Amino acid sequence: MCGIVGYVGAKDCSEVLVNALTKLEYRGYDSAGIAVFDDGEIRTVKTKGKLDDLRQKLKEVGKPSGHVGIGHTRWATHGEPSDINSHPHSGARVTIVHNGIIENYIELKEFLISKGRVFLSETDTEVVAQLLDYEYDGKPLETIDRVMAELKGSFALGIMFKDFPDRVFAVRRESPLIVGVAEGECFIASDVPAILQYTRDYYLLEHDEIATLTKDGVSFVDERLQPIEKELKTADWDMEAAEKGGYPHFMIKEIHEQPEAIRTTILPRIKDGLPCLDECGITLEELKEFKNITIVACGTAMHAGMVGKYVIEDLARVPVNVDIASEFRYRNPIVGRDDLVIIISQSGETADSLAALRLAKSKGATTLAIVNAKGSSIAREADMLIYTLAGPEIAVASTKAYITQLSVMYLFAFELALAKETLSVAECKRLISALQKMPDAVQYVIENCEEKCKYIATKLVSAESLLYIGRGLDYALSMEGSLKLKEVSYIHSESYAAGELKHGTISLINDEMPVISVATQTDVIPKTISNIVEVKSRGAEIILVCTDACARGLKDGIADYVVEIPHSEELLMPITAVVPLQILAYYTAINRGNDPDKPRNLAKSVTVE
Ligand code: AGP
Repeated sequence: MCGIVGYVGAKDCSEVLVNALTKLEYRGYDSAGIAVFDDGEIRTVKTKGKLDDLRQKLKEVGKPSGHVGIGHTRWATHGEPSDINSHPHSGARVTIVHNGIIENYIELKEFLISKGRVFLSETDTEVVAQLLDYEYDGKPLETIDRVMAELKGSFALGIMFKDFPDRVFAVRRESPLIVGVAEGECFIASDVPAILQYTRDYYLLEHDEIATLTKDGVSFVDERLQPIEKELKTADWDMEAAEKGGYPHFMIKEIHEQPEAIRTTILPRIKDGLPCLDECGITLEELKEFKNITIVACGTAMHAGMVGKYVIEDLARVPVNVDIASEFRYRNPIVGRDDLVIIISQSGETADSLAALRLAKSKGATTLAIVNAKGSSIAREADMLIYTLAGPEIAVASTKAYITQLSVMYLFAFELALAKETLSVAECKRLISALQKMPDAVQYVIENCEEKCKYIATKLVSAESLLYIGRGLDYALSMEGSLKLKEVSYIHSESYAAGELKHGTISLINDEMPVISVATQTDVIPKTISNIVEVKSRGAEIILVCTDACARGLKDGIADYVVEIPHSEELLMPITAVVPLQILAYYTAINRGNDPDKPRNLAKSVTVE
């Protein structure tokens, strides 16, 4: 994910900016750049590649010499990684760096082109730079305020106006931004680690607040341009903790990043209330022709495919087969010209998934990759591509990648159902509107369920084996819950279709085997409850993850622990229901003394068979 830094003070600004950017490298990036006031002019140096490439370029062209500037590491969303698309971006009198996504940038760009503006890059960021320049009336705060009112989406911006060589402006909506302060200098940064080498004192910029930084200090105004006082915070983290944003582990940090990850993934793919996957090379005409879909992936990505199967079949009425990549590639699978093969992968480098992609292509199938890592092998080789925009996932146990894979599965299913005319435009708009509410719903679950899950995890610490049960989408989701627990806690667990229990597996149940049941799908809840009663009567302790509506109808004593999540559109419930399962797995691992970020025997990216 992009990283922003900015500096105003007495030090060598180019040096400070590059040093600060180094501390944001962990966020992942594909290009970098800085812009510094040098003798009254803004000088920009930027390049595709890593910070070493930027250092090299600074050596070649001579680094800007000055004390006020902004810098950026870019993780491409709009437009490929290239020198031109790298930040900073400029209008005639304005230079900016940006993190986030401007949802309505196409409309704004068209407007600016109609006013004679010429664009150099493919980015949404340049649109903001040009719009600021277009609106500029010599008053920076008023200009920023007017432009903010026109922007839709998420953004954190570092801004320099040519007429004000002694200051940097900063603003944010959704995307995080902090302002660091020290004697005679101020900083902006996407995250605390960037400034820790210079100061521990910082302010958190809130939505739609604007900061003005000079060497004498920082001032803040709200969206009505009224001055505001803010609380100064002091970081007490070491550098390693800071890179985890104050969280003890990347896994829990990434769980908390899920609302933002979903938002970033779905926003650019929704236009006028409908799914729009044009930029991914997918057209309704093409989609209409596919007779069958096969989803191929490994581990968590395969589980996202399981949810995808239920949703696609339900909405688009196209048969979907989900296959484990290591099985698919050695089985002479039946796929051909009429088929779409979807490969899901966080890393885009999983050896079995890559081999499955190549096999599917060789059999004439059309391939669609759903991938998180930009420019990875699977992303490059597939016919069509949708990036999940989860940002870098560092913990081995996948969380935010899974939730964005689900988000993309929904968008794809909606688009396919529209193409197949099995879903009306009105119904699709209703579903899209429900999907747009999911970031807030996930945030709510994190805020309201974490303590409860933490407590329940203390009860699982000595379990040797666990069962997850559910029906339909809840079963598909339970597979992921079970894998999460296994991989970080090292407790054996299985996910079972609740109705299948009595065909053998129920013989395992006794008072030493806790059962985690997921019940979010109204039509099958009574059936699942019957299955819960069956295992409960055989001594199992029951942990129930269910909707608040379901919880209200429960008889006392059926479940030992209940985690309630808000009821929302039922088809979308896996997005919220997975969160308690992830948190349970995390705290169970912690209680057992495991490092959840580096589970034994596992690698983040499985590039060998
Ligand atoms: C999940 O927590 C694991 N890290 C693992 O199952 C992973 O999802 C699988 O190895 C596939 O990786 P990919 O998404 O990078 O292809």
